[in-house]
Amino acid sequence: MTDVTFVSTNPGKYREVRAVLREYGVGTRWSRRELPEPQADTLEEVVGSKLDAVEHVRGFALVEDSGLFIPSLGGFPGVYSAHFLRTWKFGPIFELLRHRNRRAFFRTVAGLRRGRQRAYFVGEVHGSISLRPAGRQGFGYDPIFVPQGWDRTFGQAPADAKNAISHRARAFRKAGEALASRHPFD
Ligand code: IMP
Repeated sequence: MTDVTFVSTNPGKYREVRAVLREYGVGTRWSRRELPEPQADTLEEVVGSKLDAVEHVRGFALVEDSGLFIPSLGGFPGVYSAHFLRTWKFGPIFELLRHRNRRAFFRTVAGLRRGRQRAYFVGEVHGSISLRPAGRQGFGYDPIFVPQGWDRTFGQAPADAKNAISHRARAFRKAGEALASRHPFD
């Protein structure tokens, strides 16, 4: 069985990643460690720096960075999602969206490293920002995100329903497929 070390401080991410990789017969260890997150314009750049910082991990190391992108706000909060949520919570987003299109998407970039080899996997889920927060499941922006075709937020959904379609699950299914193949870095 292949094993990977997922490096992140976020227990919600770890649970989701572990459940997805299990589908591919991949076991996930959790290294609960804060990685440097430079101010950058893209998730790919942030993930690249995180991969630089996990050289101590033996075997396969996995990291990820995610964001909520709202096209009518020029993609904001995007790469600033974590900082924005910590500082402001949801209020200003509802305020800004009163007269703007509520369409939004989550994007995850996952990074895999073993020694000098690296691979990146991307996943997205599209939907819209709800009119008010709802639900206590998940984490982060889950209470305000309604996936396309749903009538409830990620925050109102059980973990397996979110994992069936989420940005993170989509990125890590690609990682799982690669890990289950003979050449994960091709
Ligand atoms: P980061 O990838 O930890 O930098 O996450 C950026 C921000 O988006 C943080 O505030 C997270 O809580 C939030 N976030 C990341 N993934 C998700 C998700 O799956 N659902 C809701 N919020 C998320």
